[in-house]
Amino acid sequence: MKKTTIVLLIVLLGAALFVWSGAYNIAATDKHWAVTNELLEILRERSIEVRAKDIVVPENLEDSTLIASGAGNYEEMCSSCHLAPGVENTEIYEGLYPQPPVFNGSVHDAHDEKDNFWVIKNGIKLTGMPAWGASHTDDDIWALVAFINQLDEMSADEYLEITAGGEGHDDSPADEDEHEDASADEDLHQEIPADEEEHQETTPGSET
Ligand code: HEC
Repeated sequence: MKKTTIVLLIVLLGAALFVWSGAYNIAATDKHWAVTNELLEILRERSIEVRAKDIVVPENLEDSTLIASGAGNYEEMCSSCHLAPGVENTEIYEGLYPQPPVFNGSVHDAHDEKDNFWVIKNGIKLTGMPAWGASHTDDDIWALVAFINQLDEMSADEYLEITAGGEGHDDSPADEDEHEDASADEDLHQEIPADEEEHQETTPGSET
């Protein structure tokens, strides 16, 4: 009994020393060991499953009005991290670790709707995935879940069309704002090549 207490104390002291020493590299560029990844994966999956199991999924997730109403919010709040049909890469996506799942990529092993709802509402610690429930209603979040369900089959053109016509962000007072926003879509879709534009801005003819 005494021996175990001593061993335990040594282990705790070792752990405290490791934390304090700064030896652990917290950089996003320093990838986890495979075994750490496995453990974190199980931890996350179980944590979400247990918390999401009693959520009641609404029956209207196939409803085209609901799907369309999630489109604008997805484009505005999610596509920079999770990409979208026609949005192949963004600087945020590239730099994040863990890298956000791409819902229109066939590699993504789809979560069920309860889990997606829970994650969108509550976020995931230490990953960059925000808790949107702080600023959005459950209805808004179900619309996002419904929209994500459709992404796998969606072409880039369909995506552009639905996000341009969608209801967009709830905070904006008038519908018209949304339609003006549609022009901003282009910027996003050109996120990577847009760099070139930046360089061109220094060429004469813009400001000088
Ligand atoms: C700043 C980047 C960022 C933004 C913005 C963001 N997410 Fe995430 N999201 C992540 C990351 C990173 C993960 C993966 C976390 C992990 O691996 O544990 C994630 C995970 C998820 C998951 C869990 C998927 C799965 O199968 O594991 C869902 C669903 C999700 N996000 C939906 C959304 C929606 C909807 C929005 C917009 C309302 C959004 N996210 C905005 C970074 C982001």
